Amino acid sequence: MSNRSTWKCRISGEPLFPVLDFGLQPLGNGFLLPEQFDKEYFFHMQVGFDPESKMFQLLEQPNPEQMFHENYAFFSGTSRFMAAHFEEFANRVKSSGCLKTDPFVVELGCNDGILLRHFAKEGMHHLGVEPSRNVATVANEQGVSTISEFFTAELAEQIVKEHGQADAFLAANVMCHIPTIRNVVKGIKTLLKPTGVVQFEDPYLGDVLRKTSYDQLYDEHVFLFSALSIQYLFALEDLELIDLQPQGTHGGSMRYVLAHQGAYPQQPSVAAILSEEKAQGLDRLETFQAFAQQVARSKTELQELLSDLKRQGKKIAGYGATSKSTTILNYCGIGPDVVDYISDTTPIKQGKYSPGTHIPVQPYEHFQQDRPDYAVLFAWNHQQEILAKELGYTQSGGQWIVHVPQVQILK
Ligand code: TYD
Repeated sequence: MSNRSTWKCRISGEPLFPVLDFGLQPLGNGFLLPEQFDKEYFFHMQVGFDPESKMFQLLEQPNPEQMFHENYAFFSGTSRFMAAHFEEFANRVKSSGCLKTDPFVVELGCNDGILLRHFAKEGMHHLGVEPSRNVATVANEQGVSTISEFFTAELAEQIVKEHGQADAFLAANVMCHIPTIRNVVKGIKTLLKPTGVVQFEDPYLGDVLRKTSYDQLYDEHVFLFSALSIQYLFALEDLELIDLQPQGTHGGSMRYVLAHQGAYPQQPSVAAILSEEKAQGLDRLETFQAFAQQVARSKTELQELLSDLKRQGKKIAGYGATSKSTTILNYCGIGPDVVDYISDTTPIKQGKYSPGTHIPVQPYEHFQQDRPDYAVLFAWNHQQEILAKELGYTQSGGQWIVHVPQVQILK
């Protein structure tokens, strides 16, 4: 696939080069009940690259209203490690010097308030903007002022009228979800004080390519960003990168720090990471074509490993009903005949079935009693936390399968 398609880059408007085809995929977070199986929504998941904007993106994305609604299944507050991560994020913002007198902090997609609560508890003027009503309600209940809306340039103007301009505009694992991101960046330009700073983080394209973690691609992740693509996107509104801070979360993320052009000096990290990205080829189509081959190889290896274990009569369960697992399960054609169930601690997912392949999601207590021979670590991004917690399972002979950075049984 090297021909340009009729799909256009959402940033530059140039035709996209398709590089990956995952076939029909359901919604990554679309855990469902048996009575919903016959009405399940699927879309053709293909990914393309634009050498102009350097943006790696889905060709087609379901309507955001299909994904972020009153039953959104993702609650940030489920991992202790992530809670600590967001506390550190808040502390970095507070000590960065961007919060001036009586500061105003806005967070886009604040989920249940896991980050913004660190500003709210100090009585700081803040506002969460969260389109999924159920998680927004939880945030409000926890004292985090949140409106349930999609952030747009128009909403930014209203916020400025009501609250004034913002000292900090934050987002975590949100910006890469937004197909209309050009309009969002326009809104950020309006909302941000002349001394204001934007800080957001998302899964990082450089890590996805290095680890073949193609499961970062699902309906919600319309983009996988690099510093190169973020630089291009924000320059359209005269905003520039002033710092880049790699993060270990979500299997490798990047925190992008931006401000109005010329407002702050640029940290050495910016030039360093931009040049690393060029060395990695994140500005070239061929790099993504090579990635597509790695993805196909990873699929075959996982299928072969699991079939082999099934032939030996082993019992296999999944650990963590992640959105990421939806891509793996559907792309590799893994159903309940291979993986008996997926253990997950999120109540709203329990008792439901995985999107597309319909594997039952069981509460964690079930896994504790069942002790399968193998557990496929779909929540591989929490590997350290989970393996520490599951020492008992491992010591009693339970084995872990991961697919990143390569398909393997952990030793
Ligand atoms: P997450 O890491 O956010 O992945 P994604 O963005 O792909 O959905 O989700 C982690 C999932 O794993 C979440 O549903 C909770 C579950 N989980 C457990 O069941 N046990 C655990 O110990 C951890 C850390 C997560």
